[in-house]
Amino acid sequence: MADPIVLGIESSCDETGIGVVQGTTLLAHQVATSVEEHARFGGVVPEIASRAHLESFVPTLDRALAESSLELSDIDAVAVTGGPGLIGALLVGSSGAKALAWSLDRPIYAVNHLVAHVTVDELEHGRLPEPMIALLVSGGHTSLMRVGNVIDDVETVGSTLDDAVGEAFDKVARLLGLPFPGGPSIDRAAQEGDPEAIAFPRALTAAKDQSQHRFNFSFSGLKTAVARWVEDRQRQGLDLPVADVAASFQQAAVDVLMMKTFDACDYFGISDLQIGGGVAANSALRASVEARALAAGVSVRIPSPHLCTDNGAMVAALGSKLARAGVPPNGLNFAVRSSLPTSSVVL
Ligand code: KG4
Ligand code: ZN
Repeated sequence: MADPIVLGIESSCDETGIGVVQGTTLLAHQVATSVEEHARFGGVVPEIASRAHLESFVPTLDRALAESSLELSDIDAVAVTGGPGLIGALLVGSSGAKALAWSLDRPIYAVNHLVAHVTVDELEHGRLPEPMIALLVSGGHTSLMRVGNVIDDVETVGSTLDDAVGEAFDKVARLLGLPFPGGPSIDRAAQEGDPEAIAFPRALTAAKDQSQHRFNFSFSGLKTAVARWVEDRQRQGLDLPVADVAASFQQAAVDVLMMKTFDACDYFGISDLQIGGGVAANSALRASVEARALAAGVSVRIPSPHLCTDNGAMVAALGSKLARAGVPPNGLNFAVRSSLPTSSVVL
């Protein structure tokens, strides 16, 4: 029998993503974002995100069906993000997904958003290497995972103790008067700056942190260090060297991410690395990962930026993988969860 056609629905944050996947072939990939509506608040406002999902759900679904030249009745299974994420936002996506699964009488999988971020790479670069280390860096997450296989062996070995790295980019951009989302603005500003101009801290990299926090991250101290530096400068009535601050902050963040990621590859004896999430688009990160991978003999896979950021194709990719492996679906009674460990690939 041909591989099932899986509809994937993502609504955990500010993107309404609907994708269609058959096997590992991407048939449709449509995303509506509410990022503009959050811009003046400098971060995602949950209530605004939920309402935007409600408005975007049907139009995005229609575009995905048109892109794949399919009818709803052609869909064999539905997959939806079950967590982690903003609870109201998750509820909108899961309610829509349940309604579709019920009316079409199809199985439904409620899947882990973080594991979906890892699985999406299969659509672009073929079968995932097993085992691998996966680094997920976005506005909502900073996680380092050891992936035996994405179906039932995903272990989070480290994550952030406070802000996600993308959140730190967004907050620092705001301090520097750069537009939201901050990641791309900082990336651009940093092109003209000196990454060694200011020595910002690299948190949890000291010898004393190794026993408890070897693979954990902390970015709120870095953000505060930038804020203090900016305030000092302003108090002295001096101009703000925006490009140097952006480049030095970015380098500090990237250094810590890279140090810990390659340490994890070494510690677990794994030579395949995958990086996903919005921050994977960062040019300093991409340059640094290439150089380190070459030196360490590690193969790196990074999905294209449009698949790195939140989308429905990644959810469909994981749903497809689960369906093909014969994992039993969830049924309609599942409840979405705002926090969900990666050990739960399905709810
Ligand atoms: O994966 P994503 O679209 O959404 C989630 O947060 O799940 O990631 C968005 C984050 C934002 O914080 C944004 O500032 C950051 O990714 N980002 C970047 C870059 N492009 C997006 N951060 C650093 N450099 C970039 N080029
Ligand atoms: Zn995400």
